[in-house]
Amino acid sequence: MPPHAFTAVDDQDDPSAWVDVLDKVRAHPFYAAYKTRAAELLAPRAGGRYLEVGTGTGNDALALFERYGVRVVGVDASETMIAEARRRGLEEATVADATALPFEDGSFDGAWADRTFQHLAEPERALAEMARVTRAGGRIVVVDPDYGTQAVAVEDEEIARRVLGSRVRHLRNGTLAHRMAGRFAAAGLQKVEAEAMTLVVRDPTAVDNVMGLRSWADGTADADAWHTAIDDSIARGAFLYAVTFFLTAGTKVT
Ligand SMILES: C[S@@+](CC[C@H](N)C(=O)[O-])C[C@H]1O[C@@H](n2cnc3c(N)ncnc32)[C@H](O)[C@@H]1O
Repeated sequence: MPPHAFTAVDDQDDPSAWVDVLDKVRAHPFYAAYKTRAAELLAPRAGGRYLEVGTGTGNDALALFERYGVRVVGVDASETMIAEARRRGLEEATVADATALPFEDGSFDGAWADRTFQHLAEPERALAEMARVTRAGGRIVVVDPDYGTQAVAVEDEEIARRVLGSRVRHLRNGTLAHRMAGRFAAAGLQKVEAEAMTLVVRDPTAVDNVMGLRSWADGTADADAWHTAIDDSIARGAFLYAVTFFLTAGTKVT
């Protein structure tokens, strides 16, 4: 499997570029909407202590603190991300792997991970860790896009299928999201809920900016045909890209 930046941010040529990527995507209204819903599913209670796994720049952790008056701890495998989260004001930010959380059993009122599980080598172990550090009665929420749900409006559906399929293989767990509810049940979590929200992009500049959709076939035999298919779609006013995010929530019982 080819390496993906978010599996090892600190090993990239320019780790800080990935901070910019997170800031750019969060500017899209869809992200604000699903993140608000994820926080609702976590059901934070004022004065509680919550954990974000894969906190990135810490923006969501800080938003939870501001909105709900809770204490939030963020962990991330990347030193670059944790330094940025601290710089933005997240005081309790720690470099740690999702599969080895440096916290006592039951020491949080809830835990969540947003677009982190898609990158993990051992997602079940990470979920078990989130359950371990959450107290009985606490909520756990995991959100990821499911790249098996992608759609792009080009006329050549065969090339779309190939290019979008390669995007799935680009990630460790590109299609885990629709199966997370089952993972929650297997982990012994209860009151498991799954919701879906779909990102729909009609702005053709997304082809070249943060999504970089035009480059997804670069280095393959489909590269030229893909560029042509995308340009044709834009010229006809037909451009559309969509992917569904799944939000999975459950309650720790014992
Ligand atoms: C796509 S970013 C999402 C960041 C943030 N949750 C957000 O929504 O903006 C994924 C984050 O997971 C972190 N990550 C990847 N693998 C990890 C691991 N094994 N343990 C902890 N964090 C990890 C990355 O460093 C990155 O900051």
